[in-house]
Amino acid sequence: MSEPDLTEHRSPVDVTAALRADVRAGLTAERKWLPPKWFYDAAGSELFEKITSLPEYYPTRAEREILAREAPAIARATGARALVELGSGSSEKTRLLLDALTAHGTLETFVPLDVSGAALAEATEAIAAEYPKLEVRGVVGDFTEHLGLLPGEPPRVVAFLGGTIGNFLPADRAKFLRSVREVLAPGEWLLLGADLVKEPERLVRAYDDAAGVTAEFNRNVLRVINERLGADFDVDAFEHVAHWDAEAEWIEMWLRATEEQVVSIPGADLEVRFAAGEHVRTEISAKFRPAGLAAELAAAGFAVAERWTDSEGLFSLTLAEARKEVN
Ligand code: AVJ
Repeated sequence: MSEPDLTEHRSPVDVTAALRADVRAGLTAERKWLPPKWFYDAAGSELFEKITSLPEYYPTRAEREILAREAPAIARATGARALVELGSGSSEKTRLLLDALTAHGTLETFVPLDVSGAALAEATEAIAAEYPKLEVRGVVGDFTEHLGLLPGEPPRVVAFLGGTIGNFLPADRAKFLRSVREVLAPGEWLLLGADLVKEPERLVRAYDDAAGVTAEFNRNVLRVINERLGADFDVDAFEHVAHWDAEAEWIEMWLRATEEQVVSIPGADLEVRFAAGEHVRTEISAKFRPAGLAAELAAAGFAVAERWTDSEGLFSLTLAEARKEVN
C-alpha cells in the first residue's frame, strides 16, 4: 500500500563525531573501554549474523523458539496496532511477530529503529513488500536517544529482543527502561528478550566460539576505528577474551594487547599507548534472573504480564505492561 518511510535522526557526520567522542572517552580512561554499538558496520553486522547460527551461541535460537510458540499469545494479549522494534538489525524474528499480529487483525504500523541506515533501508523495503497492508516507518537513530518521536497508534508494543538489554551497565539500563516507559501510555507494552544466568562454561563458550567468529566480531571495532578515524590499529595484535564476572553476572568481552604498542588515531586527535597484556573492554552482556528482571521492570513503571522461556530454560521473553503510575 504505502512506500516504506525512513526518518533519519542521524547523519554520517554525527556518526563520526559520536565515534570520536566515544573513542576519546574510552581509550583515555584508566581502564580502557569502547561501547559495543561500534561493532555493527556492514562487516560487523554480517559477523553478528554468523554468530547467531553458531552451535555455541544459543540466545538467538532460544528466543526464536519462544517467539514461534508465543507470538499468537502476544498478539491476543496486546491487540497491538503498532510494533516498534528497537535495534531491529535483521528482522527474521520480527516476522514471527508480524505474522501473528497481522493474523490477529489489529496491526497497522511497523516501526523498526536502528543505528544502521543501510541495514534499515533494506529491512524496511523487504518487510513492506512482504506485508503490503502494513505501514512501515523506519527510524534511523540510537535507541538511547531517539525514543521521543515513535510513530504508531496505541496500543503499541515496543520489542527489544536478542538480549541487547544486557549491553547496558545497570544504571544505564534503569535509565533506558524508564525512557521506554516514558514514551508509552499506560496499557502499552514492552516485549523484552533477556538472556538468563546459567553455568559459566556454557556462557563463556557462547562468547568464545571454536570457529573464532566472535573473536573477529570483537576485533571489528578496531577496523571501524581504523576506517572512520584513520587509526592504525594492528588488529592482529589484539586477542579476543570472553570473561565471566561472577559477581556482576555478566560476560565481558575484552581485546587484549599481545605486546606493547602505540596506536595513532588522527580522527580523534589521539595517540594511545597499550602495555603488553592490557585490555580494552568492548562489551558487557549481562545475564538475568527472573525476579531481578521483574524488579527492574517494576522500578521503571512496568508490570510483568507474561514471562516465557525456551524448552532448555536458557533465555527469557517478558511481556510487560506500562503501569498507570510511574514511581
Ligand atoms: C546482540 C548484544 C545481544 O550480547 O549476546 C554476541 C552481541 N556479542 N556475541 C550479545 C554479541 C558477542 C549480543 N547482543
